[in-house]
Amino acid sequence: MEPLTEKYRPKALDEVVGQPENIETIKKLLEKRESQQIPSLLLYGGAGLGKSATAEAIANEINAELSKFNASSEGKKETAKEKIVPALRNAWRPKVVVIEEADGLSGHAQMSLKEDISQNQSTKAILILITNHIDKIVDPIKSRCMPFEYEPIETKQIKQHLEHIAKKEDLDSDLNGEIQKIAKRADGDIRKAINQLDRETLIDDDKTKETAKQIFGE
Ligand SMILES: Nc1ncnc2c1ncn2[C@@H]1O[C@H](COP(=O)(O)OP(=O)(O)O)[C@@H](O)[C@H]1O
Ligand SMILES: [Mg+2]
Repeated sequence: MEPLTEKYRPKALDEVVGQPENIETIKKLLEKRESQQIPSLLLYGGAGLGKSATAEAIANEINAELSKFNASSEGKKETAKEKIVPALRNAWRPKVVVIEEADGLSGHAQMSLKEDISQNQSTKAILILITNHIDKIVDPIKSRCMPFEYEPIETKQIKQHLEHIAKKEDLDSDLNGEIQKIAKRADGDIRKAINQLDRETLIDDDKTKETAKQIFGE
């Protein structure tokens, strides 16, 4: 069974919960993309707030190829030069190049992207850097990207999203008050909340089976 976080992964920008300003700005950038080059984007903030989902939704919305790198496993300067830079330059059709955990790139490796971040007029690639540690991104890179800070998501919005999922999954609408508790405990991290809901659904399943057993026998 697919985890709920995967099943309910936002496919469009409008499905990203709780980041209205970021999403509005990104939509405007995409609208203008015929006349204006889209800058490199830097998405930063805590875990489970929709940064990766936003990058994927961008690719979906403009029908772009998605090319993903994880910098924590590709931290060497050579990797940036040998893999990421070619991916950016050889884009003949719309392409979104995402660097997850961009802070994993050494300062040197980050700098080897500098040229491609500032002058990507000649390419159809959009570069998106994602990090939970903005302080580890070197200034020359930071200053060349358009920054988007992802804030913890309000409990109320997490609750609404969990209710939406619960409804789609044919679950009891508030899981005996658990949804409110899960939303609160998640502390702004919506992925954590969805994972917790996933766990509760198993328990809920058991309860249902238990009740069925009592009614219908084994
Ligand atoms: N803002 C959001 N709106 C809806 N779902 C979200 C959001 N943020 C995270 N999620 C859920 O959590 C999963 C992981 O999100 P992700 O975008 O990878 O978070 P981040 O990159 O900020 O750590 C998604 O697949 C989705 O199910
Ligand atoms: Mg992510």
